[in-house]
Amino acid sequence: MAHLLVTGGAGFIGSNFVHHVVAHTDHTVSVLDKLTYAGNPASLEGLPGTRVKLVQGDIADAALVDRLFAESDAVVHYAAESHNDNSLDDPRPFLDTNIVGTYTLLEAARRHGTRFHHISTDEVYGDLELDDPERFTETTPYNPSSPYSSTKAGSDLLVRAWVRSFGVRATISNCSNNYGPRQHVEKFIPRQITNVLQGIRPKLYGAGLNVRDWIFADDHSSAVLTILEKGRLGETYLVGADGEKSNKDVVELVLRLMGRPADAYDHVVDRAGHDLRYAIDSSRLRDELGWRPSYADFESGLGATIDWYRENESWWAPAKAATEASYARKGQ
Ligand code: NAD
Ligand code: TYD
Repeated sequence: MAHLLVTGGAGFIGSNFVHHVVAHTDHTVSVLDKLTYAGNPASLEGLPGTRVKLVQGDIADAALVDRLFAESDAVVHYAAESHNDNSLDDPRPFLDTNIVGTYTLLEAARRHGTRFHHISTDEVYGDLELDDPERFTETTPYNPSSPYSSTKAGSDLLVRAWVRSFGVRATISNCSNNYGPRQHVEKFIPRQITNVLQGIRPKLYGAGLNVRDWIFADDHSSAVLTILEKGRLGETYLVGADGEKSNKDVVELVLRLMGRPADAYDHVVDRAGHDLRYAIDSSRLRDELGWRPSYADFESGLGATIDWYRENESWWAPAKAATEASYARKGQ
């Protein structure tokens, strides 16, 4: 039994990890979360208070971070500004949290000798052509496109430098696009599901030919737990479930599963610098650590996700109107 500190544990993927840890281990968890617009304490509801406690605070608050590291056996770092579109509107919080926040955590890991796992994204590698036979691997050169992905790339490089220069006991994982329950309505899949539920037509950026490699969030969580338990220190592991789909195909499937005509969506203004395609080769994680995804069937995962948004309107409705108003101002 260990005590884990999970940063960003009130967000989409961090809260999924906390639920996963409670269900599959006997560890206890402290969540450190600033509760920005993206953090929601309701995402931790139903978890036993004897196993999980929520501390509201900033990962860039060195004194608070130091106190929490002192009582933790390992740290899993999810906290981030996570949305590309927001990073195009105002990059500053991305620098503060993703770069300075990660730096603050690494300094604490160095002082306390704490095992540290850094959560990152495949977007650090830039994008691929639609017909490129290659996929991203751990040795693909970094080539980020957006303020979001460049700050995540910067945070990964800080982790690597703190491993090499100061012997910090860290691992990194770069995962593909996640979907599932409790994802903020600003993101692609929940935006379209909740649009349909509210009688709004789904919105596809540009022609919708961009490809994302989708993984159900619980498979990301099982991968992170596997790396925490068995990963080689200093290593990077790519996490993906062979789930490449074009945005157009995803919107059409959402509409079909929700009983609407497949063409009942609008094309809207494209994202500036929009990455064309992401694709992950997760052989290292599978071959070296024996990890496998459990939810590789996208249609059934999407169906379960739709059911969750249908049944949990009180979780997402408070953020919906402001999110749509912000997109509408940009013609999206
Ligand atoms: P999210 O936006 O849903 O959650 C982020 C959480 O971090 C929120 O709870 C927020 O309150 C918290 N937070 C933000 N700034 C903070 C700060 N300064 N101090 C403390 N807490 C802070 O994001 P997500 O989609 O769950 O992503 C989590 C992590 O996974 C991020 O590091 C992201 O880069 C990475 N990731 C996401 C995806 C994806 O598809 N969403 C894919 C790969 C990797
Ligand atoms: P998003 O969920 O923002 O994730 P990321 O930018 O990290 O890939 O977007 C996923 C894809 O969906 C991306 O190609 C942009 C596109 N998209 C739309 O077509 N319409 C939308 O309303 C949103 C939010 C995204």
